[in-house]
Amino acid sequence: MKVLLIGNGAREHCIAEALTRSGRVKLATYAKAKNPGIFALSEEYQLGSYTDFRSILNFAKKVKPDFAFIGPDDPIADGVADLLLELEIHSVAPLKTVARLESSKSFTRDLVQKYKIPGNPRFKVFFDPVGIKEFLQELGGNYVVKADGLMGGKGVQISGEHLATLEDGEAYAKKCIEKFGRVVVEEKLIGQEFSLMSFVDGKHVVDMPPVQDHKRAFVGDKGANTGGMGSYSDANHLLPFLEKRDLEEAHLITEKVADALFRETGILFKGIMYGGFMVTANGVRLIEYNARFGDPEVMNVLPILKTDFVEVCEAILGGNLNRVKIEFENKATVCKYIVPEGYPENPRAGEKIEIEPSTLNPQPSTLRMYYASVDQRDDGLYLSSSRAIAFVGIADTLDIAEKIAEQACGNVKGLVFHREDIGTAALIEKRVRMMREFRR
Ligand code: AMP
Ligand code: GLY
Repeated sequence: MKVLLIGNGAREHCIAEALTRSGRVKLATYAKAKNPGIFALSEEYQLGSYTDFRSILNFAKKVKPDFAFIGPDDPIADGVADLLLELEIHSVAPLKTVARLESSKSFTRDLVQKYKIPGNPRFKVFFDPVGIKEFLQELGGNYVVKADGLMGGKGVQISGEHLATLEDGEAYAKKCIEKFGRVVVEEKLIGQEFSLMSFVDGKHVVDMPPVQDHKRAFVGDKGANTGGMGSYSDANHLLPFLEKRDLEEAHLITEKVADALFRETGILFKGIMYGGFMVTANGVRLIEYNARFGDPEVMNVLPILKTDFVEVCEAILGGNLNRVKIEFENKATVCKYIVPEGYPENPRAGEKIEIEPSTLNPQPSTLRMYYASVDQRDDGLYLSSSRAIAFVGIADTLDIAEKIAEQACGNVKGLVFHREDIGTAALIEKRVRMMREFRR
């Protein structure tokens, strides 16, 4: 069968690997840039912009895929799944109406409130500046201001981090209203974040193992927010600071939100619901939903998926996820991204990197390598301005998985860095201690 894949990051390299692993899929990829890993797995590879709908349609007409898989958030939010449906091509990705789950933070907060689903922090949506300052005061100066549209992960500003005073908070909220016509202001939650991604066919929700991402650029969670520097998941499909009931709470929220989405819009959400949750002293809270796989989180889960991924995709489209036994290996995984020096603010693009040959062709049961943004030229690999390559260590314990990923990162030479602390016992212990204090 043929699958049309849209996207060209490490996330999509990992999706491409999972789709082709079964041996029954021929991949045709539509991408903004050439990803050497996806290119090698694809029969056809078309370069084009995600906003060029005519180009996407032409490629889809030529390929005639059995289904499509859309990786990134922007084409999903723009309605590429709706576009492909005009050709009767179904996508493992939601239609635009239900993709608002990610593209509009106010839509999701309002939906959760309207259907009396637990998980929302205190929040208000403002359409004009009247009352913003009072609400910030009401929240005791601990607040978060969220732009209500896709901002490439840069739309959220937090008191004490980006916003020093109430005036700063109010000013940013006003800017958001000018840009998107409204703004979400909410209580600042304190706790540990985790990602719970679920396969969703509109009616059934099947969770993947939970993952913890690391957004800050530098060791010790210092520096600017990035697209994600790395992530880990544990062999028991929990996280060291999570309890089973936390996961059950998060699952219930996703199940109820999937149902509410259908009741609200009449459209079944078919794809990946990725909940960003926080365990707090008062239980699990919802930070946000994404309508796609997480990057890097997908690299923690698809490599250990035992079930044929194509079968999972078919069940998502067929609405019968309940009939497929979806299993993951009991392995710990640690993913680390190699990024250019200066990333994310002043990345040194265009520099050559060298990877030791043994690392380039790893043993897939213990190490995976996924290309993100690199330029493969005749004489080797060159950096672009974003994340370059991800390595995933896979082992029985976090400790060993971390060492495998770390060693692979050490085998990349050039003007790059990575976070040595992701997945280490020291960093994880810090999080466990924090949660222990909280839960008392
Ligand atoms: P988002 O763009 O919604 O993923 O938000 C980016 C980051 O902001 C999240 O990963 C959290 O670390 C943080 N964040 C968002 N909402 C809240 C909140 N209500 N309280 C504390 N932190 C938050
Ligand atoms: N892990 C962050 C994201 O995929 O949005």
